Amino acid sequence: MDKRTGILFLSVLATAAAADSPVTFHKDVLPILQKNCQSCHRPGQIAPMSFLTYESTRPWAKAMKTAVATKKMPPWFADPQFGHFSNDRALKSNEIETIAKWADAGAPEGNAKDAPPQVKWPADGWDIQPDLVVKGPETLVPAKPKNNVIEWSFITVPSGITKDTWITSMEIRPSEPSVTHHICVYFKPHTDDVKYNTPVWADRPRDDQGNALPEAAGINGKGIPPSITAGSNGIEGCYVPGQRSQDYRIYKAAKLFKAGTDIVFQVHYTPNGKDTTDRPQIGFTVAKEQPQRTYVSIGFSSPSDAKSFAIPPNDGNWESPPAEATFLQDAELVWMSPHMHVRGKDMTYKLLYPDGRTETLLNVPRYDFNWQLGYEVATPIKVPKGTKLTVTAHFDNSANNKFNPDPNRTVYYGDMTWEEMMFPFFSVVVDKDVNPRTVIRVVRGRAGGGA
Ligand code: HEC
Repeated sequence: MDKRTGILFLSVLATAAAADSPVTFHKDVLPILQKNCQSCHRPGQIAPMSFLTYESTRPWAKAMKTAVATKKMPPWFADPQFGHFSNDRALKSNEIETIAKWADAGAPEGNAKDAPPQVKWPADGWDIQPDLVVKGPETLVPAKPKNNVIEWSFITVPSGITKDTWITSMEIRPSEPSVTHHICVYFKPHTDDVKYNTPVWADRPRDDQGNALPEAAGINGKGIPPSITAGSNGIEGCYVPGQRSQDYRIYKAAKLFKAGTDIVFQVHYTPNGKDTTDRPQIGFTVAKEQPQRTYVSIGFSSPSDAKSFAIPPNDGNWESPPAEATFLQDAELVWMSPHMHVRGKDMTYKLLYPDGRTETLLNVPRYDFNWQLGYEVATPIKVPKGTKLTVTAHFDNSANNKFNPDPNRTVYYGDMTWEEMMFPFFSVVVDKDVNPRTVIRVVRGRAGGGA
């Protein structure tokens, strides 16, 4: 037998062995679950069942096969044609096949000795293992508020952080996810007139079904005094379904939390049919030494006035005016998170470089409001000063959109999920000496800084 035949022969043998050896939980399935599923499917996380052990996973084998084959799970919406993301949990086709084969074979356990070591998840259900925890404000979410609407409110609490601190990750955790639509936080320099633990909101003009009238269109609730978040750098991070922590360590960056700064919670609760009290917490990890780079979180919106932003009834593909910003500093773009409401259909982020080149950074062709995902850029995108960021989006106000509560009305910009939003979030890393407020200028739309 010459050398080549030998190799051929051996590889045929190896393939035959792989095909014969049964797919088991410990050997084949658990590594996939650890990498792609356990971040949500473990106790204390958003998924309703745990995939840590064979016993808790086995009953779900058939449902898992369906969920991965239809790409319902894991939730991931980025068009693979554009960009690479370090938190991409999408399964490869051979992994989908492995789960399918395992389910078809009756979900065999196999030998526990074949299992990879358990993943050491942070304790107490945190995503990050916080060095510091700040308690947020308590809010009673009534079972049945008027029109079923609870307006967003802003509540300030003291941070208790008494020296300048570089934070390297942040996680926001509601105590009652069932009523929590979102929680976003601002870091506000302390002022002596601050009123702690006092909710501030604006009652917006609404019709009987709770729809804001056109004159109420605008973001972040007209009528909220800007002083609530004055002096802050805008939203620093949010809890939304599918996302609650952000880790700046990946990009060797941090945020400066100045001594004595207060934390403003912007909370949006939705009733769940019984009186429920939520009390969120924020966890931070802290840098041992001063980092060289600052992590800056930015959000902005398309034009939001009732003339620019009015989605006609039964329009299945309405294009909103784009949101556009120019970079005033050299930066590295590291993270993106499209935000729209139930009629949101797609969103695309594009850069136009000063040399005329264009690049699509992220395309989410089938946006799903139930999943507010953040996309972590695998290799930071170098953005020279003068580059323009353009974000475009479409909305589906037709009856084909199964989440559309009413295709027969004109939909304006607003805070509630049955109103609409076009609000791209993104983050950049800049030199530590750059003032976060001078990174971009919004040229079309609205800066999403304060209230
Ligand atoms: C980002 C969080 C997240 C990740 C990652 C995730 N899941 Fe889920 N999963 C959920 C949540 C939340 C639900 C319950 C709500 C729902 O069905 O959408 C769920 C539901 C399911 C269901 C029940 C589906 C049904 O139709 O009832 C299955 C099966 C499932 N997940 C399997 C997986 C598998 C397998 C993976 C990894 C390959 C995975 N999930 C990754 C959050 C996640």
